Amino acid sequence: MSTEQLIDGYNRRIDYLRMSVTDRCDFRCVYCMAEDMQFLPRQRVLTLDELVTLAERFVALGTRKIRLTGGEPLVRNGIVDLCRRIAALPGLRELCMTTNGSQLSRLAQPLFDAGLARVNVSLDSLDPTRFRELTRTGDLQQVIAGIDAARAAGFRRIKLNCVVLKGRNDDEIGDLVRFAIDRGLDITFIEEMPLGIISEHSRAESFCSSQEVRERIGERYTLIESAESSQGPSRYWRLAEAPDTRIGFISPHSHNFCGTCNRVRLTVEGRLLLCLGNEHASDLKAVLRAHPGQPERIDRAIREALAHKPYRHNFEVNDDVQIVRFMNMTGG
Ligand code: 5AD
Ligand code: SF4
Repeated sequence: MSTEQLIDGYNRRIDYLRMSVTDRCDFRCVYCMAEDMQFLPRQRVLTLDELVTLAERFVALGTRKIRLTGGEPLVRNGIVDLCRRIAALPGLRELCMTTNGSQLSRLAQPLFDAGLARVNVSLDSLDPTRFRELTRTGDLQQVIAGIDAARAAGFRRIKLNCVVLKGRNDDEIGDLVRFAIDRGLDITFIEEMPLGIISEHSRAESFCSSQEVRERIGERYTLIESAESSQGPSRYWRLAEAPDTRIGFISPHSHNFCGTCNRVRLTVEGRLLLCLGNEHASDLKAVLRAHPGQPERIDRAIREALAHKPYRHNFEVNDDVQIVRFMNMTGG
C-alpha cells in the first residue's frame, strides 16, 4: 500500500474522489437536467476497465474514499462488478454511492455483497404526484421500496439527500425528517446549485437557504449543532428528540468549507474537475488512451492537476448560469 498523499497548492490533503460512472439517468429532476437531454456517445465515456484503472491510480496516490455518482450510477451496465473491483483496491477505506434509488430493490443486496459500504439516496418529496413532477419520470413507491431494500441488505448510515425548492417541497421538510427518523436514516438538505441551464423554474425564486430549512425543522424539533464534519460542504446537526439521526445541510453558496476541501471529481468522460464551482479540469482520458500500460503518466497528470486546484468556488444566487455543465455531467 502506498504512503503517497495528494496535497494541493493550498496544502489541503485530497483523499476523496467522486467518480461519475454514467451521464445517463432514468429520472430528469428539474434542478439537474433539461427535459430533453443529449447523452454522450459511448466512445467518449470511460470503459469499466478505464474506470478501474483510474480508481486504482487515485488509490495508489492516497485516495481513501471513493463515491460513485452519475447521472444515475445504477443504470450503468456492469455496475455491481465495477463496485467489486474498486472496493477490492488495497488502501481504499470506503466505497460509497449516490443513487436515485430506483434500481435499489433489485441491486441493493448484490451491491452490498460486492463491498459497497454506504449509499445516499435522493428523496425530495413524499407525495407521489409531486415526486413525479420534480423527477419528471420517477415513481415514489419504487424509491421507497429501494430504500427499504438497502436497509434489509445491511447498509448502515443510509443518507437521504433532499434539494429544497421554495414553493415546491419546502412544506415537506418536517415530514421528510420524520420519515428519516422512523427508518433510522440520516438526511441532508441541499441548497440548489446553479449548474446547467434550466428553464423549468427560476433559481432565484425557488432558492431556500439552509437557515430557512433549520427554522422549519425547529418548529417541530430541537436542533443541536454537532461538531462532526466530513471536511466537505455538509454541516451536521442532531435532534434532541431523535439523537441517532444526523441532519446535514449543504449550503454551496457559503464558503466556510473551501479551506478544508478534501475532494476532486472525475467526470464519466475522464475529466478531472478540481472544484465543483469552477471550470478548471484536466483530461485524464486523453492521457490514459495515449499511454496504455503506463500508469506513471496518469499519476503525473493527476499530481500536476492537483497543483491547480482553485482555492474556492464562486457561485452566486441568481439566474445567471456560471457553470454550464449539468450536474449529471459533473457527478453529484
Ligand atoms: N443543485 C443541488 N443539488 C443537485 N443535485 C443535482 N443537481 C443539483 C443542483 N442543481 C443533487 C441531487 C442528487 C444528487 C445526485 O445531486 O440532490 O441527490
Ligand atoms: Fe438523475 Fe440524480 Fe439528476 Fe435526478 S438529480 S436527474 S436522479 S442524476
